[in-house]
Amino acid sequence: MKNRPEVLVVMAGETYQQLFDEPRRDRLTRLAAVRDPVQVAELGSAAARERLAEAEVLITGWGCPPVTAEVLARAPRLRAVLHAAGSVKGHVTSACWDRGLIVTSAAAANAIPVAEYTLAAVLMAGKRAHRFAALYTGHPGVWGPWRDSPPNPSNYRRTVGIVGLSRVGRRVAELLRPFDVRVLATDPYASAADASALGVTLVGLETLLGGSDTVTLHAPELPETRHLLDGGRLALLPDGATVINTARGSLVDTAALTAECAAGRLDAVLDVTDPEPLPAGSPLYTLPNVVLTPHIAGAMGTETHRLADAALDELESFAGGLPQRHPVGGGDLARIA
Ligand SMILES: NC(=O)c1ccc[n+]([C@@H]2O[C@H](COP(=O)([O-])OP(=O)(O)OC[C@H]3O[C@@H](n4cnc5c(N)ncnc54)[C@H](O)[C@@H]3O)[C@@H](O)[C@H]2O)c1
Repeated sequence: MKNRPEVLVVMAGETYQQLFDEPRRDRLTRLAAVRDPVQVAELGSAAARERLAEAEVLITGWGCPPVTAEVLARAPRLRAVLHAAGSVKGHVTSACWDRGLIVTSAAAANAIPVAEYTLAAVLMAGKRAHRFAALYTGHPGVWGPWRDSPPNPSNYRRTVGIVGLSRVGRRVAELLRPFDVRVLATDPYASAADASALGVTLVGLETLLGGSDTVTLHAPELPETRHLLDGGRLALLPDGATVINTARGSLVDTAALTAECAAGRLDAVLDVTDPEPLPAGSPLYTLPNVVLTPHIAGAMGTETHRLADAALDELESFAGGLPQRHPVGGGDLARIA
């Protein structure tokens, strides 16, 4: 590599250990000039300040403190912030774009496991697997009429509604292609041509809700998406529909969804809730038609290696003078996660 930029990794120590295994550390060393400490979790100590003064590139990750104007003043050579995770909103400040820094994110890599989780949830919801599981374990040794009670346990020609053709939403649409399901989508930023290239039909939110057996949320948390599914919109869903939320808890009015699930009218698969965690007394913990997971859909375990790979790919492009693969502009923040 002709130009090996000076790189400082800024993320929590355990995140660095998890994302950057030996092969990835080797690749980092091949692509960049790195000195000790290669990684810091804060930007205030003498060691961090010394590295910051030399750094041309920050590879950031979970636990990175905000890169403020004050931090930038101590980083005169800095040209790029390459994030090895999804949203940059927690640490990249407007000062970074004002200074003309390149900013990239690994949200596309983080979208892969979220879309996989969603595909599994959609197919299990279609088969009403969670209701059957609760009924079966509630009737040990009995093969009774309860076996016919969940209506239409089938994925054939049913309708899935995708709210948000985001990176995750698009990937869910692609993963659903081999199945015999109809896919509707809603997104104020998508065009009909865009949707049809993905094999989905673009409709308004209300139409989508009224016509979907399963609705899956993939819009970002923005002021205008707060309680996107409020009580009135949830009431549009057909009886027996399932709400899947892997996006952000604030997109759903939790009290209204809880009431619908407690009444047995709707089912839910919730990887995210508002608040997180839910209060100990929430009925969502025990309802037989609700599956709760503790915000696990995004990259975990070996999946996090994709995040490191994405940041290293960006570093390679940067060092080679090539365009960045997933740049983030300050103007994008009003639309993205
Ligand atoms: N559960 C997890 O572990 C996990 C992991 C990663 C991402 N997420 C969440 O998944 C969601 C999608 O993430 P992403 O990185 O794919 O998002 P993204 O940044 O790619 O989403 C941006 C897109 O969302 C769409 N959008 C914007 N406003 C909308 C609206 N009002 N209605 C419908 N669509 C709208 C637009 O197409 C926009 O381009 C986000 O809420 C994110 O926080 C969760």
